[in-house]
Amino acid sequence: MDLSKEVMRRRTFAVIAHPDGGKTTLTEKLLLFGGAIHVAGAVKSNKIKKGATSDFMEIERQRGISVATSVMGFEYNGLQINILDTPGHEDFAEDTYRTLTAVDSAIVVIDAAKGVESQTRKLMNVCRMRNTPVMVFVNKCDREGKDPFDLLSELENELHVKTIPLTWPVSMGATFKGVYSLYRKKLNLFSSHDKQHVDNSTVEFSDIASPELESYIDKFAAKLREDVELLQGVYPSFGVSDYLSGEVAPVFFGSALNNFGVQELLETFCDVAPYPRPMRTDTRTVDPFEEKLTGFVFKIHANMDPNHRDRLAFLKICSGTFERNKAYLHVRHGKQLRFSSPSAFMAEKKTVVDVAYPGDIVGLHDTGSFKIGDTLTEGEKMNFKGIPSFSPEMFRYIDNADPMKAKQLAKGVDQLMDEGVAQLFTSTLNGRKIIGTVGALQFEVIEYRLEHEYGAKCRWEPISLHKACWIESDDRAQLADFTLRKHVNMAKDKHGRDVFLADSSYALQMAQDKFPAIKFYFTSEH
Ligand code: G4P
Repeated sequence: MDLSKEVMRRRTFAVIAHPDGGKTTLTEKLLLFGGAIHVAGAVKSNKIKKGATSDFMEIERQRGISVATSVMGFEYNGLQINILDTPGHEDFAEDTYRTLTAVDSAIVVIDAAKGVESQTRKLMNVCRMRNTPVMVFVNKCDREGKDPFDLLSELENELHVKTIPLTWPVSMGATFKGVYSLYRKKLNLFSSHDKQHVDNSTVEFSDIASPELESYIDKFAAKLREDVELLQGVYPSFGVSDYLSGEVAPVFFGSALNNFGVQELLETFCDVAPYPRPMRTDTRTVDPFEEKLTGFVFKIHANMDPNHRDRLAFLKICSGTFERNKAYLHVRHGKQLRFSSPSAFMAEKKTVVDVAYPGDIVGLHDTGSFKIGDTLTEGEKMNFKGIPSFSPEMFRYIDNADPMKAKQLAKGVDQLMDEGVAQLFTSTLNGRKIIGTVGALQFEVIEYRLEHEYGAKCRWEPISLHKACWIESDDRAQLADFTLRKHVNMAKDKHGRDVFLADSSYALQMAQDKFPAIKFYFTSEH
């Protein structure tokens, strides 16, 4: 098999949105248009609805769904498309951040009425850290929304990316008529009658000055002409290289629920989205076309069956060909591992795979030897970079509630941290363990899983902290002075790195001002 051909036909990406923006709906419609499923409704939402926080059956059920939809692969027009799913609940944002390290591009969904929301902003920050190319889909145009020009400036100002509209809405809400493709010079007329199947009613319109436009969109034709003229004056024509470097985000308008604007998005995506990109390691940059296999684990999913503590580690292949039963080096352990039943994910199905290529995700059965960020190679000692931990936002002391089960608790906490459920810090002051998460739900998940999977009981004690930041300095005297003065707020992360636990944003600001030689980082990898 020709490796370079396989690399170049892979498109691995994630759909990201603020909860309720329409991520699940759009993902499903992409699968529908891509021919991977035939009726909408086949992909279950992996959303944990707000209010379901104490319903553990619900969490468990959702975990089952989310493993099934973690990766949705399908073939479309000769391309192998891999959509990586991200959790819908904000409390699992860290999972989403990590998934973004395994994609080569992203589609950001925005609710036309709500515009840019908090989670979109955070997710975009992560994309920007890695210069991930993004496309924006402005969803729910069938409802009253913000003015599209205002939306574009909001996107630019809030997401710090230049935008360039490739389609343009003809009205919105009750009078929504469709979208005009500025890129393909086509008018796509809106009808909301069939949400289940693919529907195409497009009209070629290379010249929108033609009076024929009125026969399709009547009184909205004049406004469209005016908008298009304005857009052509303001926006340069779309340059693929600006998109690929992450500088410019093409914008599409539509309604995922009504299958509208999705085809255009998918087609443009297939035309311009990048195939797997070179990835940085601690020793060199790995090119996807290299013959030897390399890859890293970006997600670990614990098995549903508490009696068998096996897990599924998701490996993103970065170069070479992955083969079943071949021995690979687990760099951190220095051990050779073989995988007899690696899984590939096609639409909702999981199958054993014999070979896989850069851009693909394979699921590896694991009995505890992997943690997030682990690298596999054919012998080379290196580690992929760009899988940072983010500063958590909620903190609690964790104590052992059953003295007979101290070992189980330690093991459980250790493994859950390896899975990336939360982060563990150890206070330098008193040696107490602090768990940091991005959402309150994780504390309940941890407690539940410790009890059900490890037979351990924990107790939480509140601790009021604002942020954890990793600190570093070339000025050793200042660093020593800082850690001494702030010893009450100092901790070590799981890898023994120094972390400052700031009580408040004010305390953090004060520390930054007083100790200018110290760098404060909000991700573990800088
Ligand atoms: P998420 O994964 O980003 O959280 O969003 P999801 O797709 O679940 O969509 C959130 C809600 O928005 C859903 O309604 C969905 O039907 C609706 N929605 C998605 N796209 C559109 C659109 O283009 N137009 C309109 N009008 N609504 C849209 P829900 O009532 O929360 O869920 P459901 O009961 O319909 O599943």
